[in-house]
Amino acid sequence: APKKGLKDYYKAYFPVGVAVGRAQLQGPEAELIKQQFNSITPENAMKMGPIHPEEDRYFWTDADAIVNFAQANKLRVRGHNLLWHEQTPKWLFKNADGSRVSKEVLLKRLHDHISAVVKRYQGKVYAWDVVNEAIADNPQEFLRNSEWYQICGDEFIAKAFEYAHEADPKAQLFYNDYNTERPEKRERVYKLLKQLKDAKVPVHGVGLQGHWSLQEPTEPELRAALDQYASLGLKVQITELDVSIYPWEKDRRAKRPGESDAYTPELARQQAAQYKMFFRVFRDYKSVLTGVTFWNVSDKYSWLDTYPVAGRKNYPLLFDQNQQPKQAFWEVVQF
Ligand code: XIL
Repeated sequence: APKKGLKDYYKAYFPVGVAVGRAQLQGPEAELIKQQFNSITPENAMKMGPIHPEEDRYFWTDADAIVNFAQANKLRVRGHNLLWHEQTPKWLFKNADGSRVSKEVLLKRLHDHISAVVKRYQGKVYAWDVVNEAIADNPQEFLRNSEWYQICGDEFIAKAFEYAHEADPKAQLFYNDYNTERPEKRERVYKLLKQLKDAKVPVHGVGLQGHWSLQEPTEPELRAALDQYASLGLKVQITELDVSIYPWEKDRRAKRPGESDAYTPELARQQAAQYKMFFRVFRDYKSVLTGVTFWNVSDKYSWLDTYPVAGRKNYPLLFDQNQQPKQAFWEVVQF
Protein backbone atom coordinates (compact mmCIF):
# COMPACT_ATOMS: atom_id res chain seq x y z
CA ALA A 1 0.00 0.00 0.00
CA PRO A 2 1.24 3.54 -0.64
CA LYS A 3 2.72 5.21 2.43
CA LYS A 4 1.37 8.60 1.51
CA GLY A 5 -2.06 9.71 0.45
CA LEU A 6 -3.17 11.58 -2.64
CA LYS A 7 -3.98 14.39 -0.19
CA ASP A 8 -0.31 14.52 0.85
CA TYR A 9 1.12 14.48 -2.65
CA TYR A 10 -1.30 17.23 -3.63
CA LYS A 11 -1.05 19.29 -0.44
CA ALA A 12 0.39 22.31 -2.28
CA TYR A 13 -2.25 22.05 -5.01
CA PHE A 14 -5.84 21.25 -4.01
CA PRO A 15 -7.84 18.98 -1.70
CA VAL A 16 -8.47 15.51 -3.10
CA GLY A 17 -11.89 14.11 -2.38
CA VAL A 18 -13.98 10.99 -2.83
CA ALA A 19 -17.69 10.22 -3.15
CA VAL A 20 -19.01 7.41 -0.99
CA GLY A 21 -22.06 5.68 0.40
CA ARG A 22 -22.55 4.64 4.00
CA ALA A 23 -21.32 1.11 3.32
CA GLN A 24 -17.83 2.47 2.70
CA LEU A 25 -17.46 4.02 6.12
CA GLN A 26 -16.25 0.66 7.47
CA GLY A 27 -13.60 -1.88 6.51
CA PRO A 28 -10.85 -1.51 3.90
CA GLU A 29 -12.61 1.23 1.93
CA ALA A 30 -12.85 3.37 5.08
CA GLU A 31 -9.13 2.86 5.76
CA LEU A 32 -8.34 3.97 2.23
CA ILE A 33 -10.58 7.04 2.57
CA LYS A 34 -8.77 8.10 5.75
CA GLN A 35 -5.32 7.46 4.30
CA GLN A 36 -5.81 9.01 0.87
CA PHE A 37 -8.37 11.80 0.90
CA ASN A 38 -9.12 15.06 2.71
CA SER A 39 -12.57 15.73 1.27
CA ILE A 40 -15.71 13.61 1.02
CA THR A 41 -19.00 13.77 -0.88
CA PRO A 42 -22.12 11.67 -0.29
CA GLU A 43 -22.58 9.81 -3.59
CA ASN A 44 -26.37 9.66 -3.13
CA ALA A 45 -27.36 10.37 0.48
CA MET A 46 -27.97 14.11 0.15
CA LYS A 47 -29.93 13.98 -3.09
CA MET A 48 -33.54 15.09 -2.82
CA GLY A 49 -35.09 11.64 -3.36
CA PRO A 50 -33.07 9.85 -0.67
CA ILE A 51 -32.98 12.69 1.88
CA HIS A 52 -36.55 14.01 1.48
CA PRO A 53 -38.71 10.98 0.63
CA GLU A 54 -42.02 12.55 1.67
CA GLU A 55 -43.05 16.17 1.84
CA ASP A 56 -43.17 16.19 5.64
CA ARG A 57 -40.38 13.68 6.26
CA TYR A 58 -36.62 13.87 5.85
CA PHE A 59 -34.30 10.87 6.07
CA TRP A 60 -31.08 12.18 7.58
CA THR A 61 -29.47 8.94 8.78
CA ASP A 62 -27.14 8.22 5.87
CA ALA A 63 -26.08 11.81 5.24
CA ASP A 64 -25.48 12.36 8.96
CA ALA A 65 -23.29 9.23 9.11
CA ILE A 66 -21.09 10.55 6.30
CA VAL A 67 -20.85 14.04 7.81
CA ASN A 68 -20.01 12.56 11.24
CA PHE A 69 -17.32 10.34 9.68
CA ALA A 70 -15.90 13.42 7.95
CA GLN A 71 -15.79 15.39 11.18
CA ALA A 72 -14.18 12.54 13.11
CA ASN A 73 -11.49 12.18 10.43
CA LYS A 74 -11.00 15.85 9.55
CA LEU A 75 -12.32 15.63 6.00
CA ARG A 76 -14.09 18.55 4.41
CA VAL A 77 -17.55 17.83 2.99
CA ARG A 78 -18.87 18.79 -0.47
CA GLY A 79 -22.65 18.56 -0.52
CA HIS A 80 -24.27 16.97 -3.59
CA ASN A 81 -26.85 18.08 -4.63
CA LEU A 82 -29.80 20.40 -3.97
CA LEU A 83 -31.59 20.30 -7.33
CA TRP A 84 -31.43 17.68 -10.08
CA HIS A 85 -33.85 16.19 -12.60
CA GLU A 86 -32.98 12.65 -11.43
CA GLN A 87 -33.41 10.97 -8.03
CA THR A 88 -36.27 13.33 -7.18
CA PRO A 89 -38.90 12.17 -4.66
CA LYS A 90 -42.25 10.98 -6.00
CA TRP A 91 -44.29 13.69 -4.27
CA LEU A 92 -42.27 16.66 -5.56
CA PHE A 93 -44.00 17.61 -8.79
CA LYS A 94 -47.53 16.49 -7.80
CA ASN A 95 -50.48 17.83 -5.89
CA ALA A 96 -52.46 15.54 -3.55
CA ASP A 97 -54.96 14.86 -6.40
CA GLY A 98 -52.15 13.76 -8.73
CA SER A 99 -52.18 16.88 -10.90
CA ARG A 100 -49.03 18.84 -11.57
CA VAL A 101 -48.05 21.52 -9.07
CA SER A 102 -47.96 25.17 -10.03
CA LYS A 103 -44.73 27.12 -10.26
CA GLU A 104 -45.51 28.87 -6.97
CA VAL A 105 -45.95 25.57 -5.14
CA LEU A 106 -42.83 24.05 -6.67
CA LEU A 107 -40.66 27.04 -5.78
CA LYS A 108 -42.02 26.97 -2.23
CA ARG A 109 -41.12 23.27 -1.98
CA LEU A 110 -37.67 24.00 -3.37
CA HIS A 111 -37.19 26.77 -0.84
CA ASP A 112 -38.25 24.63 2.10
CA HIS A 113 -36.08 21.72 0.97
CA ILE A 114 -32.95 23.77 0.41
CA SER A 115 -33.44 25.68 3.62
CA ALA A 116 -33.81 22.50 5.72
CA VAL A 117 -30.88 20.61 4.18
CA VAL A 118 -28.42 23.48 3.97
CA LYS A 119 -29.15 24.69 7.52
CA ARG A 120 -28.79 21.22 8.99
CA TYR A 121 -25.23 20.99 7.67
CA GLN A 122 -24.28 24.65 8.02
CA GLY A 123 -20.66 24.91 9.11
CA LYS A 124 -20.08 21.25 8.22
CA VAL A 125 -20.61 21.31 4.45
CA TYR A 126 -18.30 23.94 2.95
CA ALA A 127 -19.59 23.75 -0.65
CA TRP A 128 -22.80 22.66 -2.37
CA ASP A 129 -23.62 21.50 -5.86
CA VAL A 130 -26.76 23.62 -5.92
CA VAL A 131 -27.98 22.89 -9.44
CA ASN A 132 -26.92 19.71 -11.24
CA GLU A 133 -27.11 19.10 -15.01
CA ALA A 134 -29.56 21.83 -16.08
CA ILE A 135 -28.14 22.12 -19.62
CA ALA A 136 -29.76 20.02 -22.38
CA ASP A 137 -27.94 17.13 -24.07
CA ASN A 138 -29.06 18.31 -27.50
CA PRO A 139 -26.64 21.04 -28.66
CA GLN A 140 -29.54 22.84 -30.41
CA GLU A 141 -31.25 23.41 -27.07
CA PHE A 142 -30.16 25.46 -24.08
CA LEU A 143 -31.76 24.32 -20.83
CA ARG A 144 -32.85 20.72 -20.26
CA ASN A 145 -36.57 20.15 -20.70
CA SER A 146 -36.92 18.72 -17.18
CA GLU A 147 -39.98 18.88 -14.94
CA TRP A 148 -38.29 21.77 -13.16
CA TYR A 149 -38.08 23.62 -16.46
CA GLN A 150 -41.55 22.65 -17.64
CA ILE A 151 -43.12 23.98 -14.45
CA CYS A 152 -40.89 26.96 -13.64
CA GLY A 153 -39.20 28.02 -16.87
CA ASP A 154 -35.60 29.07 -16.34
CA GLU A 155 -36.28 30.77 -13.01
CA PHE A 156 -35.65 27.74 -10.81
CA ILE A 157 -31.89 27.98 -11.32
CA ALA A 158 -31.39 31.46 -9.88
CA LYS A 159 -33.92 30.72 -7.13
CA ALA A 160 -32.05 27.61 -6.01
CA PHE A 161 -28.83 29.59 -5.60
CA GLU A 162 -30.64 32.39 -3.76
CA TYR A 163 -32.32 29.96 -1.36
CA ALA A 164 -29.01 28.20 -0.65
CA HIS A 165 -27.21 31.49 -0.07
CA GLU A 166 -29.95 32.64 2.29
CA ALA A 167 -29.69 29.37 4.26
CA ASP A 168 -25.89 29.48 4.60
CA PRO A 169 -24.24 32.72 3.43
CA LYS A 170 -20.78 31.20 3.96
CA ALA A 171 -21.23 28.10 1.79
CA GLN A 172 -19.59 28.02 -1.64
CA LEU A 173 -22.28 27.44 -4.25
CA PHE A 174 -21.56 25.47 -7.43
CA TYR A 175 -23.24 24.74 -10.73
CA ASN A 176 -22.28 21.13 -11.66
CA ASP A 177 -22.49 19.33 -15.02
CA TYR A 178 -20.98 16.66 -17.30
CA ASN A 179 -19.34 16.83 -20.75
CA THR A 180 -18.37 20.37 -19.79
CA GLU A 181 -15.20 20.18 -21.92
CA ARG A 182 -17.03 19.43 -25.17
CA PRO A 183 -16.98 22.76 -27.03
CA GLU A 184 -20.74 22.85 -27.74
CA LYS A 185 -21.66 22.08 -24.14
CA ARG A 186 -18.87 24.26 -22.77
CA GLU A 187 -20.34 27.28 -24.58
CA ARG A 188 -23.79 26.63 -23.15
CA VAL A 189 -22.54 26.08 -19.60
CA TYR A 190 -20.52 29.27 -19.95
CA LYS A 191 -23.60 31.13 -21.21
CA LEU A 192 -25.67 30.00 -18.22
CA LEU A 193 -22.96 30.95 -15.72
CA LYS A 194 -22.44 34.31 -17.40
CA GLN A 195 -26.16 35.04 -17.21
CA LEU A 196 -26.20 34.12 -13.52
CA LYS A 197 -23.14 36.24 -12.75
CA ASP A 198 -24.54 39.21 -14.68
CA ALA A 199 -27.80 38.92 -12.74
CA LYS A 200 -25.80 38.92 -9.45
CA VAL A 201 -27.00 35.45 -8.54
CA PRO A 202 -24.83 34.01 -5.72
CA VAL A 203 -22.94 31.39 -7.73
CA HIS A 204 -19.31 30.88 -6.72
CA GLY A 205 -18.05 27.97 -8.72
CA VAL A 206 -18.49 25.47 -11.50
CA GLY A 207 -18.13 21.74 -11.03
CA LEU A 208 -16.82 19.73 -13.96
CA GLN A 209 -18.04 16.22 -13.19
CA GLY A 210 -15.11 14.56 -14.93
CA HIS A 211 -16.84 11.37 -16.06
CA TRP A 212 -14.14 10.87 -18.63
CA SER A 213 -12.77 8.06 -20.77
CA LEU A 214 -9.60 6.93 -22.54
CA GLN A 215 -10.63 9.14 -25.47
CA GLU A 216 -12.07 12.26 -23.84
CA PRO A 217 -11.36 14.99 -23.09
CA THR A 218 -8.18 15.74 -25.00
CA GLU A 219 -5.59 17.95 -23.36
CA PRO A 220 -6.48 21.02 -25.47
CA GLU A 221 -10.20 20.53 -24.73
CA LEU A 222 -9.54 20.30 -21.00
CA ARG A 223 -7.32 23.39 -20.98
CA ALA A 224 -9.80 25.39 -23.08
CA ALA A 225 -12.60 24.53 -20.66
CA LEU A 226 -10.59 25.44 -17.56
CA ASP A 227 -9.54 28.73 -19.20
CA GLN A 228 -13.05 29.65 -20.22
CA TYR A 229 -14.68 28.93 -16.84
CA ALA A 230 -11.84 30.63 -14.97
CA SER A 231 -12.39 33.76 -17.10
CA LEU A 232 -15.70 34.23 -15.27
CA GLY A 233 -13.84 34.56 -11.97
CA LEU A 234 -15.40 31.35 -10.69
CA LYS A 235 -13.80 28.63 -8.62
CA VAL A 236 -13.49 25.45 -10.64
CA GLN A 237 -13.56 21.93 -9.21
CA ILE A 238 -13.46 18.47 -10.73
CA THR A 239 -16.33 16.90 -8.82
CA GLU A 240 -16.94 13.32 -10.01
CA LEU A 241 -13.74 12.07 -11.58
CA ASP A 242 -13.52 8.60 -13.10
CA VAL A 243 -11.98 7.35 -16.35
CA SER A 244 -14.14 4.74 -18.06
CA ILE A 245 -12.35 2.07 -20.06
CA TYR A 246 -15.26 2.15 -22.52
CA PRO A 247 -15.94 5.09 -24.85
CA TRP A 248 -18.93 7.18 -23.82
CA GLU A 249 -22.32 7.15 -25.52
CA LYS A 250 -21.40 5.00 -28.49
CA ASP A 251 -20.60 2.18 -26.15
CA ARG A 252 -23.00 2.35 -23.21
CA ARG A 253 -24.30 -1.19 -23.36
CA ALA A 254 -24.36 -4.58 -21.70
CA LYS A 255 -21.72 -7.24 -22.26
CA ARG A 256 -22.26 -9.40 -25.36
CA PRO A 257 -22.20 -13.17 -24.98
CA GLY A 258 -18.60 -14.38 -24.89
CA GLU A 259 -17.18 -10.86 -24.78
CA SER A 260 -14.44 -10.14 -22.27
CA ASP A 261 -14.64 -7.27 -19.84
CA ALA A 262 -11.22 -7.90 -18.34
CA TYR A 263 -8.86 -5.12 -17.33
CA THR A 264 -6.00 -5.91 -19.71
CA PRO A 265 -2.44 -4.57 -19.29
CA GLU A 266 -2.99 -2.47 -22.41
CA LEU A 267 -6.10 -0.83 -20.89
CA ALA A 268 -4.19 -0.25 -17.64
CA ARG A 269 -1.42 1.46 -19.59
CA GLN A 270 -3.77 3.69 -21.58
CA GLN A 271 -5.73 4.63 -18.49
CA ALA A 272 -2.57 5.46 -16.55
CA ALA A 273 -1.43 7.74 -19.40
CA GLN A 274 -4.80 9.49 -19.46
CA TYR A 275 -4.84 10.04 -15.68
CA LYS A 276 -1.24 11.27 -15.85
CA MET A 277 -2.20 13.89 -18.43
CA PHE A 278 -5.26 15.01 -16.46
CA PHE A 279 -3.28 15.57 -13.26
CA ARG A 280 -0.46 17.33 -15.09
CA VAL A 281 -3.06 19.79 -16.40
CA PHE A 282 -4.66 20.06 -12.94
CA ARG A 283 -1.30 21.00 -11.43
CA ASP A 284 -0.84 23.64 -14.11
CA TYR A 285 -4.20 25.09 -13.10
CA LYS A 286 -3.61 25.07 -9.36
CA SER A 287 -4.61 28.74 -9.06
CA VAL A 288 -7.99 27.93 -10.67
CA LEU A 289 -8.80 24.46 -9.31
CA THR A 290 -9.95 24.32 -5.70
CA GLY A 291 -10.68 20.61 -5.51
CA VAL A 292 -10.60 17.28 -7.32
CA THR A 293 -13.07 14.61 -6.20
CA PHE A 294 -13.17 10.99 -7.40
CA TRP A 295 -16.53 9.32 -7.92
CA ASN A 296 -15.83 6.48 -5.51
CA VAL A 297 -12.87 4.86 -3.79
CA SER A 298 -11.92 1.73 -5.73
CA ASP A 299 -12.92 -0.36 -8.75
CA LYS A 300 -14.83 -2.60 -6.35
CA TYR A 301 -17.70 -0.11 -6.28
CA SER A 302 -18.31 2.15 -9.24
CA TRP A 303 -21.61 3.42 -10.60
CA LEU A 304 -20.23 2.62 -14.09
CA ASP A 305 -20.63 -1.11 -13.42
CA THR A 306 -24.39 -0.65 -13.60
CA TYR A 307 -24.84 2.56 -15.59
CA PRO A 308 -26.68 2.68 -17.88
CA VAL A 309 -27.10 -1.10 -17.80
CA ALA A 310 -25.56 -3.79 -15.63
CA GLY A 311 -23.37 -6.55 -16.95
CA ARG A 312 -20.04 -5.06 -18.01
CA LYS A 313 -17.35 -4.48 -15.43
CA ASN A 314 -15.57 -1.11 -15.52
CA TYR A 315 -12.28 -0.12 -13.86
CA PRO A 316 -12.42 3.67 -13.68
CA LEU A 317 -10.57 4.57 -10.45
CA LEU A 318 -7.02 4.69 -9.03
CA PHE A 319 -7.46 1.69 -6.71
CA ASP A 320 -8.28 -1.85 -7.82
CA GLN A 321 -10.96 -4.21 -6.53
CA ASN A 322 -8.69 -5.16 -3.61
CA GLN A 323 -8.13 -1.49 -2.73
CA GLN A 324 -4.55 -1.65 -4.07
CA PRO A 325 -3.06 1.27 -6.05
CA LYS A 326 -3.08 0.79 -9.82
CA GLN A 327 -0.51 1.93 -12.36
CA ALA A 328 -2.65 5.07 -12.80
CA PHE A 329 -2.19 5.91 -9.10
CA TRP A 330 1.61 5.87 -9.41
CA GLU A 331 1.48 8.05 -12.52
CA VAL A 332 -0.70 10.59 -10.71
CA VAL A 333 1.63 10.90 -7.71
CA GLN A 334 4.92 10.96 -9.66
CA PHE A 335 5.81 14.53 -10.53
C1 XIL B 1 -24.94 8.42 -9.54
C2 XIL B 1 -24.54 7.49 -8.42
O1 XIL B 1 -23.17 7.25 -8.49
C3 XIL B 1 -25.33 6.21 -8.50
O2 XIL B 1 -25.09 5.40 -7.35
C4 XIL B 1 -26.83 6.50 -8.61
O3 XIL B 1 -27.53 5.31 -8.82
C5 XIL B 1 -27.11 7.47 -9.73
O4 XIL B 1 -26.34 8.63 -9.55
N1 XIL B 1 -23.86 12.59 -12.26
C6 XIL B 1 -24.11 12.98 -10.96
C7 XIL B 1 -24.15 11.97 -9.89
O5 XIL B 1 -24.19 14.18 -10.68
O6 XIL B 1 -25.05 12.30 -8.87
C8 XIL B 1 -24.46 10.59 -10.42
O7 XIL B 1 -24.31 9.67 -9.35
C9 XIL B 1 -23.54 10.26 -11.57
C10 XIL B 1 -23.72 11.23 -12.70
